Amino acid sequence: MHAPAAALPIPPMPAPAARPPSFLRVLLGGRGDLLSLFPEEAYRRQVMSFRMPGRLLLVLNHPQVVREVFVARHETYQRKSRFMEQALAPVIGDSLFINHGAVWAERRAAIGPELHPSRLDRFHPLFLRAAAEMAEDLARAAPGPVELSAAFAAATARVVMLALFGEAAARREDAAALASAFTAYQAAAENLDLFHMLGLPAWLPSPQGRAARRHAAAIRGLIGRLLAGVPPGAGPPLLEAVREARRGDGTRLIEGAALVNEIAMLLLAGSETAANTLTWTLYLLAAHPEAERRVRDEVALLPEPPGPDALGPLVFTRAVLQEAMRLYPPVAVLSRQALAADRIRRWSLRPGDTVMCVPWLLHRHAAWWEHPHAFLPERFLPEAARRQPKFTYMPFGLGPRVCAGAAFGMAEMQVFLAVLLRRLAFAVPEGFAPRPFCRLTLRPAGGMPLRVAVRG
Ligand code: HEM
Repeated sequence: MHAPAAALPIPPMPAPAARPPSFLRVLLGGRGDLLSLFPEEAYRRQVMSFRMPGRLLLVLNHPQVVREVFVARHETYQRKSRFMEQALAPVIGDSLFINHGAVWAERRAAIGPELHPSRLDRFHPLFLRAAAEMAEDLARAAPGPVELSAAFAAATARVVMLALFGEAAARREDAAALASAFTAYQAAAENLDLFHMLGLPAWLPSPQGRAARRHAAAIRGLIGRLLAGVPPGAGPPLLEAVREARRGDGTRLIEGAALVNEIAMLLLAGSETAANTLTWTLYLLAAHPEAERRVRDEVALLPEPPGPDALGPLVFTRAVLQEAMRLYPPVAVLSRQALAADRIRRWSLRPGDTVMCVPWLLHRHAAWWEHPHAFLPERFLPEAARRQPKFTYMPFGLGPRVCAGAAFGMAEMQVFLAVLLRRLAFAVPEGFAPRPFCRLTLRPAGGMPLRVAVRG
């Protein structure tokens, strides 16, 4: 089906580590990139185990084991890892993203349906609006290099802000400020797990801890101000659904600090991921002119503006987005802690032990993918995609905790590509290669400066 491997260029990835990671290297790696810890054999193994002081860490790297743990035994493995909880709590508090059990279930039931595909029509104008604003900014910057990570982070934050607070309260400057505060928070929070792995208490002050708390306070302050600007009952449907959600006994489900938590979570989960995917996608298209031409041909046929029902024919464009998320899954690690003693294959787990599914590895596993490191969007065209074994591809996660905004994100990203590529052309600057870097999410270290030009 595909070209011989030797003919295929390989998009940037870290050189595999020379040997399997020891606890010390994982610890030191806490200051660096998770992806560079994996040796060549990690792309072929089924399960890998690491002993931390007092804890076991299993990396599940086989589709049946992943399904068994994340779907069939969800009850035992529904709780996020302690690292995830600690890294995100300063910004998103006890929000459903890092909660579990009854609290997660009732909040997911309140918020999930608001992001359902049947509700997409109401978000579509916001996708178009934010994409057009971004295209305008880029056209003004052309011809020249533009740092796309930050531009997409602000534009996708703008979408979720408009969806939550509406035109009157959500200003563009606020979206840019929020996006850069999220980036600064991530950079500061990423090193916190080093403390955790050493067994030091989370309250112990560290320079990163202080900086992370400062950024978190700025983010929550901004959200508090925006919320105060939308009187009860006057907000867009998404905000009102969150504010008005009730328990069976009629009491409000999400209010006060919990409201700020869920809003911060929606802003973070809903923007960072889509922004990273769009950033990598534009890079991959700029580096693969034949794929870019096919996407351009598809988007050229859309009506102007491309309405909510117009995206169906973008078959190759969707395949490109899926391939971009295969090679650079924005959430590259899904981690959980065991809530009860259990057994996975030959390993006995105790409560508190960690299990991980690493989409970065599974998406590039030699047993499940042909030319695993090459950019081949054709593998996601409908007929080929049907042949791909289940649970080998999970950019949106899996099981009951699967992404609640997957349909929102897919539609949003198609609209952005359509609007941007109809007006602009992107090129990789001479000698530039992005470096994938992963701690909380996978993004290009140092950003993605591409050259942009207005199409004639
Ligand atoms: C390219 C776009 C996106 C990607 C790749 C993505 C990926 C993910 C992944 C992998 C998870 C599960 C994490 C885990 O199991 O540990 C998740 C959860 C979630 N995502 Fe997304 N996401 C995207 C867009 C969005 C958008 C646009 C929204 C909302 C507007 C959203 C809302 C959520 C929520 C609420 C959860 C928590 C679900 C739960 O725990 O029950 N996501 N996302």
